[in-house]
Amino acid sequence: MFRVITRGAHTAASRQALIEKIIRVDHAGELGADRIYAGQLAVLQGSSVGSVIKKMWDEEKEHLDTMERLAAKHNVPHTVFSPVFSVAAYALGVGSALLGKEGAMACTIAVEELIGQHYNDQLKELLADDPETHKELLKILTRLRDEELHHHDTGVEHDGMKAPAYSALKWIIQTGCKGAIAIAEKI
Ligand SMILES: [Fe+2]
Ligand SMILES: [Fe+2]
Repeated sequence: MFRVITRGAHTAASRQALIEKIIRVDHAGELGADRIYAGQLAVLQGSSVGSVIKKMWDEEKEHLDTMERLAAKHNVPHTVFSPVFSVAAYALGVGSALLGKEGAMACTIAVEELIGQHYNDQLKELLADDPETHKELLKILTRLRDEELHHHDTGVEHDGMKAPAYSALKWIIQTGCKGAIAIAEKI
């Protein structure tokens, strides 16, 4: 009696599909983050949180570079919505910063909390598939997850939760981001 033995839950084709889905959406997310902080800094440069935003932006640039490299390595095309996400994210950065530094930090809390959870979900998916095959990706996504959660904490430390209509603002931003994630995972 012959049995086909596959490690983990995925065949080679579905494993590649999993990797593509993850890298495409993460690339879109890091592009969005890069644009959000660019927009925030355009408004809040020279303010008391200018250097804080600049530091997070620098880290997002490195995250985006990392995703560019992974996309090239695994042959993953960017989402076709990249240009739309870029503009929307920059507008979100500018718009949130126009509410003041608390508004910018509320945006950071909302986005980074969601992205942190999203990276965690992806780590679980990869671990469930095959930790050995995905060793490099697991290491990278774990580091990025930790840095996003640090950004989240920075937003809390700098009074993001004191933004006007914080809960509503957070809900709106996270709902928008969830929509973008759902799109970028597919196309
Ligand atoms: Fe990031
Ligand atoms: Fe971040």
